[in-house]
Amino acid sequence: MIRVKDTSYQYAGGTRMVFPDFHIPKGKHGVLLGESGSGKTTLLHLIGGLLRGHEGRIEVNGVDLASLTEHGLDQYRGRHFGFIFQKNHLIASLTVEQNLLAAPFFAELPQQEEQVDALLAELGLEGKRHARVQELSHGQAQRVAIARALINKSALILADEPTSALDDRNCDKVIRLLMEATTSHGATLVVATHDQRLKSVLPVAVQLEAHT
Ligand SMILES: Nc1ncnc2c1ncn2[C@@H]1O[C@H](COP(=O)(O)OP(=O)(O)OP(=O)(O)O)[C@@H](O)[C@H]1O
Ligand SMILES: [Mg+2]
Repeated sequence: MIRVKDTSYQYAGGTRMVFPDFHIPKGKHGVLLGESGSGKTTLLHLIGGLLRGHEGRIEVNGVDLASLTEHGLDQYRGRHFGFIFQKNHLIASLTVEQNLLAAPFFAELPQQEEQVDALLAELGLEGKRHARVQELSHGQAQRVAIARALINKSALILADEPTSALDDRNCDKVIRLLMEATTSHGATLVVATHDQRLKSVLPVAVQLEAHT
């Protein structure tokens, strides 16, 4: 599903980050593990096509991301990838339901009300369907972000630190939920984190070294 080879990236004015080669087979899950500043978010955004201009090769589902045009990449991303960002990127003034339905809307996919029902139930958010995101607790908002990443049934779910702010019980709950939801439709889950607790539940795909 994901193959990273000879890949490096340099922010303007920064030092070049070199990423170890690794691959994650289709339907399997993997953690990008490393300390703060080691480049996890950068690598996740490169894999997700949110950041361009890397050296080397990043293949997702057999497609070399560098070969896609900007527009092609936008389309590919919307259809095939679900993101859970380090900061949740929900629209605070919209309701939970409206935030969920924004995902198929932007991907130009049909809106599926049944999907919304199922996800809200699965994530224990039935009572919050019409609540505005700004009225939710942090943990509730995070579950909405997870639901939004899952709603398009993307083949690849990319999650950035979904558990690092959570206590052990909720960490366990969130990661199991993510694994169940992705496994149930054969998707691949990639989690970027410094949370060592995840090592016992998900295979480590790559360990990033600190960059100075
Ligand atoms: N937009 C940017 N412009 C310039 N440098 C950046 C930018 N984003 C990140 N960096 C630098 O790139 C390096 C890797 O950052 P990145 O956010 O990928 O790390 P991370 O492993 O996700 O860290 P954390 O665990 O704190 O989220 C850091 O040195 C950071 O300062
Ligand atoms: Mg990060």
